Amino acid sequence: MSEPQTIHLADYRPFPFTLGEVQLTFRLAPAATRVLSRFTLAPKGGREDLVLFGAHLRLIRAAVNGAEIRAEPKDGQIRIAAADLPEGPFTWEAEVEIDPAGNTALEGLYMSNGMYCTQCEAEGFRRITFYPDRPDVMTTFRVRIESDLPVLLSNGNPVAEGPGFAEWHDPWPKPSYLFALVAGDLRAHPGQFTTRSGREVALNIWVRPGDEDRCDWALTSLKASMRWDEEVYGREYDLDIFNIVAVDDFNMGAMENKGLNIFNSRAVLARADTATDADFMRIEAIIAHEYFHNWTGNRITCRDWFQLCLKEGLTVFRDQQFTGDLRGAAVKRIEDALTLRDRQFREDTGPLAHPVRPSSFVEINNFYTATVYEKGAELIGMLKRLVGDAGYKAALDLYFTRHDGQACTLEDWLKVFEEATGRDLTQFARWYSQAGTPRLEVSEAWDEAGVFTLTLRQSQPETPDGVEKLPLHIPVVTGLLNPNGDELAPSVTLELTETEQSFRFEGLSTRPIASVLRDFSAPVILSHRQSDATRAFLLAHDSDPFNRWEAGRTLSREVLARLISEGTPPSADWLAAMAALLRDESLEPAFRALCLRLPGEDDMAATLAGSGLVPDPHHIHRARRSLQTTLARHLAPQLPGLIRAMTPQGPYSPDPTSTGQRSLKNMALALQTRLDGGAAAQSAWQAADNMTDQMAALACLIEAGCAGTALRAFEARYGGDRLVMDKWFMTQVLCAPPETAADVAEALTAHPKFDLKNPNRFRAVFGALSANHAGFHRADGTGYRLLADWLLRLDALNPQTAARMSTAFETLPRYDADRQAMMREELQRLKAAPRLSRDLGEMVSRMLG
Ligand code: ARG
Ligand code: ZN
Repeated sequence: MSEPQTIHLADYRPFPFTLGEVQLTFRLAPAATRVLSRFTLAPKGGREDLVLFGAHLRLIRAAVNGAEIRAEPKDGQIRIAAADLPEGPFTWEAEVEIDPAGNTALEGLYMSNGMYCTQCEAEGFRRITFYPDRPDVMTTFRVRIESDLPVLLSNGNPVAEGPGFAEWHDPWPKPSYLFALVAGDLRAHPGQFTTRSGREVALNIWVRPGDEDRCDWALTSLKASMRWDEEVYGREYDLDIFNIVAVDDFNMGAMENKGLNIFNSRAVLARADTATDADFMRIEAIIAHEYFHNWTGNRITCRDWFQLCLKEGLTVFRDQQFTGDLRGAAVKRIEDALTLRDRQFREDTGPLAHPVRPSSFVEINNFYTATVYEKGAELIGMLKRLVGDAGYKAALDLYFTRHDGQACTLEDWLKVFEEATGRDLTQFARWYSQAGTPRLEVSEAWDEAGVFTLTLRQSQPETPDGVEKLPLHIPVVTGLLNPNGDELAPSVTLELTETEQSFRFEGLSTRPIASVLRDFSAPVILSHRQSDATRAFLLAHDSDPFNRWEAGRTLSREVLARLISEGTPPSADWLAAMAALLRDESLEPAFRALCLRLPGEDDMAATLAGSGLVPDPHHIHRARRSLQTTLARHLAPQLPGLIRAMTPQGPYSPDPTSTGQRSLKNMALALQTRLDGGAAAQSAWQAADNMTDQMAALACLIEAGCAGTALRAFEARYGGDRLVMDKWFMTQVLCAPPETAADVAEALTAHPKFDLKNPNRFRAVFGALSANHAGFHRADGTGYRLLADWLLRLDALNPQTAARMSTAFETLPRYDADRQAMMREELQRLKAAPRLSRDLGEMVSRMLG
């Protein structure tokens, strides 16, 4: 094998041939599937070599214009010199053999629980046959599947079927990454949707026998998504059939293959007694996300993988809007900001920082990141803010009409905004190429003549790519409040384009209170020095729900930071503010629950590191626990009543109101557990009639150190259920005390149901270990060593998931010299391992810097 190559955006060249319809025949057999392919290639002009990618394929025969040729696959491709090709259009045919049963990488065609399925994004199609496997090559597909399995599916419409075969035709030109095939003993949960122009669409959720009663929610969510995209974006579905398949072994959440979405079963299957509120909400959002890709991704796709955020950032933005519309925009915005800070800011401040549009990669699967997805979505939100709702709509309409059927770039995307709105987005475009989270400093001045001045100053951190940073175009939504709590005027969007700019507000009679960066209008770290009293005032009065929450969050973070670094106990003001919030019944329960949640340990480590301190994970853990206890004591009189009042009556429903109530109830239960050693959690465990309440009670029992019986009962009841058992594995590690988390994880790897080949199970244990901040960072390095050991084992089977899980080490630079040295040692050990994958190899090299 040669050294892994780095691919550069600057090296993009169009594919020099036009493809005719692709014909594929699959003769399915677990260890020896034959794939026959046939398509025409017409030179676009000029004479160029033909390059077809292929990996892990056994070539049986290849032919050009029907005549067998000797093709030599080398370094993952077949190259045929221009001189050896006919002058005009010609036909390419190949027959290859592949081994789906032996495919543990879960890319290309593989087997999961006796069913065949595919994952082709980003470059998995080349594991199926030799092909120009790149997103800018689009054509129609005709697929024949030969197998005795009862259900045989591919993209598009069914055109023929008989004993032992089925044929499908997809009339919409698509790149190979959207190809899909599924074959197995599956059951359909059927549904039906009529588009607004009257097209009747057959819907199916396909699952393994026994899972039919867990499909309702996915189907409901799918119909809601189809309706929403018609109403809000004017986008209709474009085939007569839409299939979704649930697969147990899957590297990511789900995949938007044209007309045949394939989902990780945890992102589809739900029933009140097997899935939590969070699962129901995740399913709703992912179903929507994959469905929305039909227009933003499939009808209009990406020219190359550097443009990934063209489809992902936009589609995340759309699914966030959808959830906001269904469940309440304020709470959704807060949750999205929390996720962004937890995952994307974390990535952006470490060695893995990269721009939303990276300029090079070794393995593209390593760039399906929070930066590309979540920061990519934030950039769309800023654009919308800058051009206004009407401008956004005009730009999107132009995008859909102008680029339908094309493979596009971010330049195409920005151009429709410029043309539709007349705005110059040259400076805004820097957001796509500059990595790192900008800092925004706010200072205030007040003069007695009634002028209030806000000075905004931006700065950009250095990032590993060494790119020179220029000022960004940042929309800063700002409001001013009177000391009596009224808004002085509607919010304004201040547009910061220079390094530093001042904005004057004139004609005021008293000094106002400024509420800056409302609705989290830009993905930046805000520093705005305000007194505790001002923050408490905003927490009580801000009309912008995001900033209302943010004021409380900042207060809590400061209270916790002072406790960690100076041992200062929380102020009476903070405790009073929390109690007032909890009592305020004009506030949605979900919102109150969010306000009561203390910043996490990882968040505190990032905060301390951001202000130049070295975080001590154990110290942070102890301080946070003690603050929780103090808070619990202060709120004690309210907790039992709240637990009662926030228990929804009647059968379980994942609707926004009940979900919000349960989140507040279970927050109160967690606080109560700090006081009663688990007594309330024991009764909650007994009373629980849904998985949300069961998991909440179980977590409390583990934290209180009295979960033995409950864990055994849980295992006895759900031992045969893969998805529920993932929760059992996960929660034991996540809630374990720091001293034992790594030991618990290690013991669980010896459990008969631990399965290295199932990414969900691996993530349950090791995702939980890295999320147990103090447990992972245990001072003796046990956490680091255990994770590295298992990453190595996983890498031999599934490089993609191993690479993804290795990001547990990305925060290395934050910690003390001893921990850094231990983390580096583990990364070095990985790096030196024989046969390390390109995926994990790239991640480890980047983290070692
Ligand atoms: N396009 C999919 C989604 O976001 C993600 C699939 C990526 N898979 C991968 N192996 N890179 O919905
Ligand atoms: Zn996506």
